[in-house]
Order: sequence, then C-alpha cells, then structure tokens
Amino acid sequence: MLVHAQPYRSIWRDGAVVHVIDQTVLPHRFASRALHTLADATAAIRQMVVRGAPLIGVTGAYGIALALRDDAGDDALAAAAKALIATRPTAINLRWAVEQTAQQLRAIPAPARQHAAFELADALAQSDVDTNAAIGRHGATLLRERWAALGRPARLNVLTHCNAGWLGCVDWGTALAAIYQAHDGGVPIHVWIDETRPRNQGASLTTWELAAHGVPATLITDNAGGLLMQQGQVDACIVGADRVTARGDVCNKVGTYLKALAAHAHDIPFYVALPVSTIDWQAWDGMREIEIENRDPAEVTHISGRTETGELVRVQLVPDGTVAHNPAFDVTPAQWVTALVTERGVVPATESGLRSLRGEGAHVARTALPAGAAT
Ligand code: MRU
Repeated sequence: MLVHAQPYRSIWRDGAVVHVIDQTVLPHRFASRALHTLADATAAIRQMVVRGAPLIGVTGAYGIALALRDDAGDDALAAAAKALIATRPTAINLRWAVEQTAQQLRAIPAPARQHAAFELADALAQSDVDTNAAIGRHGATLLRERWAALGRPARLNVLTHCNAGWLGCVDWGTALAAIYQAHDGGVPIHVWIDETRPRNQGASLTTWELAAHGVPATLITDNAGGLLMQQGQVDACIVGADRVTARGDVCNKVGTYLKALAAHAHDIPFYVALPVSTIDWQAWDGMREIEIENRDPAEVTHISGRTETGELVRVQLVPDGTVAHNPAFDVTPAQWVTALVTERGVVPATESGLRSLRGEGAHVARTALPAGAAT
C-alpha cells in the first residue's frame, strides 16, 4: 500500500537483513526497524513491533533464516523454531509458517539452508499478498451485495475491530482488503473503527491505514458498537481472525465476541476474513482448545500517546496497586458468524463449509451467502 505516495509492505528484505515497519510508534511516527538476528525477530513479535496473525507468521519464517546465519545445523533449526513459536501462542499462522519452513529446510544440506530459508520466507511473503488480494475480491463482492440488498444507500456502514489491514499482513490485509476493494469499486463505504483497547490497534493503526487510502471512517469506543447497531447505523461487521477451528469457531482480538453477539441480536451480518492458513484443522472447540494469550497487565493500566509537543509518552490510568487482567483474544462460537471470507471463496462457519476449503466436498460460494444467514 502507499505511504506518502511510496509503495510499502509491512516487511521486506535487503540481503540478509529484514526490515519491518515499527507498529509501536504508529500513527505518530513512520519508522522501520532492521532485524539482524533471531533475537531481533523474537523481540519484534513479542513486543508487537510486528503484529497481526499473517505478519507474525511471515516474520517467523524470516526469523528462521536469520537464525541460520551462524549455525544452520538441525539443532539450531529446531531451537529457532521453538523460540519463535513461543513468542505468541494464539495466532496459528506463526506456528504454521515456522513449522513448514523448518520442515522444508531439514531436507536441504546445512550449508545451503540460510539462502533457501530466505527464499522460502520471500515466497511466503508474496503468497500472503496474493492471498489477501483474493480475500479482498471475495469480501468486496459480499459488501457490494449487502449494499445492493439494502437498496444502495448513500453510505454502507461497516464496523471493524482491531487492525486486520495491511499492517497485520504483508500487504492488503484481510478484513480491510475487502473494504479497500469495495471502496475502490465504488461502494460508498464508511467504517466504524473500534478503538480496540488495550493496545488500540483500531485507534492507532486502522485509522491511519484507512485515512491513507481515503476510506471514510469514524473512530468509536469499543463500547459504542451496540448502541450504533440498535440505532440502525451498522449495516455489516467484518473482522479478521487469529485462529479458526475446524467447526468454525473464530478466535480474534478480545472484544470480537461481544460485537458478534450484538450483531446477531440486530440481524446484522458478521463476516470474518482470513487466509486458509489461519484455520487450525486440529482444533474443534475453540473455547476449550485455543490458548488465549494473557499479556502484560500494564497494557491495561497504562496508555501510550503523543503530547502536544510531539513527545511519545506512556501514562498511568489507574490508582497505584490496581490489579488488571489482560486476555488478548476471545472466541466467537461459529453460530454467531455469518460467513468466512477466504482466498478460496466464501463459506459458512460450519464443519462442511470449512471442509470445502480443503477440497473435501461442499461447494465454496464465490458470491455472498444470504445476509444474516448464520448456519
Ligand atoms: O494482538 P494482535 O494485534 O496481533 O492481534 C491481531 C488481530 O487480532 C487481528 O484481528 C488478526 O490477527 C487479523 S490480522 C490480519
């Protein structure tokens, strides 16, 4: 996507150095960070310099390549994979990318491994871009059909949570890819952006992304969505995902579940956009089987921002000694999800819908499911 009229991806490589956009200082500063070592890659993922399920997967693949610089033996490869996977437990893309990269490298003689690892990571990055462009096409069709079903109103109000944009991927994004492509195709989209406490990915990142692309948007507090739905001011919701189970339960940024419940109560379609690599085929019951990352309570008790003089600061919100709990994700049961939007098409959030994505049986819809049709 364009930043100050320059095309950017969220991660790129220059020889044996990997560069990422530092998402901890956006929207106030646009800066990149260079990753030279495995430790740089694990720190970038843990500290959320890079974040978003697809992007941490690609960073994990590059992290393997960085790790092999000094030692490309089997033990070093296994240790690097373990260290990367341990950084963040919930998004399945990280494990998926690291394990498949390590597995392919094991078949290659050690001296050739680092070069091969960079090429595998480059290929994964490119495939993420192509995948997201396809998700965007299918998602844009759904949004266009929703707009048509509502009689082509002057604006289609779409609510999104967190940042499922190009910053969370390599390019395009997942949920935001659908919004970008619908907007570019002439659907008069207006986006309600949940701020997404505690780290405010909506307020800091989604606002910045959508403004850069010229998509009309309004920031709301996380608690305003229910009221807006009640008032008829939300026509559709679309969010990303960190892990989806084989029966269609959706794990995403904490707060997603409440929005899905409210959307269902108001008969508003609730779409989830994801690459097939976000599906955990081993998991069935998302509420029991997905590990929810608990992050530092200081993310709840403190907040970061820019002062009027341009300084980036972090301030405390609460009385000294306040106890806080910070689960970073939640699970929306499949029954509250209207449809899953993937690069292979749109499917219901059901076992057979998901199986069809693996080429096992049921038909994958290329166009929209009926609005509001939870299956
Ligand atoms: O904690 P984060 O910022 O990594 O969480 C990101 C999300 O929950 C996104 O909605 C999800 O990964 C989809 S990103 C395209």
